Amino acid sequence: MRIYLDHNATTPLREEVIQAMIEMLRDHYGNPSSSHREGAEARRRLDGAREAVAALVGAGPGQVVFTGSATEANNAAIRGALRARRPGRVVTTTIEHPSVSEPLEVLAGAGTEVLCVPVDETGRVEREALARALREPTDLVVVILANNETGTIQDLPAIAQLARPVGAHLHVDATQALGKIPVSLGDLQADSLCGSAHKFNGPKGAGFLAARDGVNLSPFILGGPQERRRRGGTENTAGLVGLGKAADLAGQALPERAREMARLRDRLWEGIVEKVPGVRRNGSAEHVLPNTLNVEFQGAAGDVLLEALDLEGVAVSAGAACASGSIEPSHVLSALGRSPEEARGALRFSTGHGNDTQQIDQVLALLPDLVARAREAAG
Ligand SMILES: Cc1ncc(COP(=O)(O)O)c(C=O)c1O
Repeated sequence: MRIYLDHNATTPLREEVIQAMIEMLRDHYGNPSSSHREGAEARRRLDGAREAVAALVGAGPGQVVFTGSATEANNAAIRGALRARRPGRVVTTTIEHPSVSEPLEVLAGAGTEVLCVPVDETGRVEREALARALREPTDLVVVILANNETGTIQDLPAIAQLARPVGAHLHVDATQALGKIPVSLGDLQADSLCGSAHKFNGPKGAGFLAARDGVNLSPFILGGPQERRRRGGTENTAGLVGLGKAADLAGQALPERAREMARLRDRLWEGIVEKVPGVRRNGSAEHVLPNTLNVEFQGAAGDVLLEALDLEGVAVSAGAACASGSIEPSHVLSALGRSPEEARGALRFSTGHGNDTQQIDQVLALLPDLVARAREAAG
């Protein structure tokens, strides 16, 4: 049996989600825009999914727009917020997901002023630097609520307090936080936020953008009346119903599930500290997702360790990715002040549905030897 500890990359589908999707694919194939009974039934189920997503993020159903991914939702939020204010001024952070940083790079190339605020060594936004950046009128502030690599959670209410007075639209990328910590549009004091079903035990290719009333989200895919003309195209009904079911489940017993994810994550970290010398945790140990552990194994290469673990049946993620033949250190770990060499030794473990104590102990039994071998290989 494989041991899957990469829930920040994607998650296994819950059985209830699979059942809801199969029912949709097999029995409720109607087009939600059709006016006959088949269409009405598909529409009714889509409306149910919208209500479930809205409930998960403390929004109204009318505030939710379905998308094909969180990547699409981030792109749409950024473009929408700046549409009437081009070229505009944007403040963001150095640790955003590429679905935020890349569209912002393109906008910067076209004249938008984009400021990236640094983070401290735990990965939290430097407040003073943010306050300085927000002394000037700003159109858009984009912040990742919980980082995908380190799990570090930002102090959103504090960020909102700085963003409000300058009249900026505050967009929050909540993709990694959903299903792991409570997320509410109102509590975050955000104007918009986004998420993706496959990060909380739903299907891939189903995401959403939630925006406060009065936020002018311009249409981002033209050519149909769907999603109140904001995103044209016949809906991915099975995927979205899967998103709705996953949202339902993610909201249920969240404190208990979070405690269990954290218990397994902490057992792993304590075991690593006990059994493996020369390790360091990346990110905040306090303001962190309950499921995420990013560890630097000093003097080892993360990609070599990842491969060795994979051969032993364990799936994790490395802190550096091989891009066109060379090892690119993670921009997130670099932003935390790690050298390329240090970032190379990082592995991310992320727990979730399906993990248990026995699996963690199996990984702990494997790690000391695999780390020693990876260190030898690195010379
Ligand atoms: C923080 C964050 N934002 C956005 C995304 C993109 O999500 P999707 O896979 O739905 O495009 C991811 C996925 O890794 C993520 O971790």
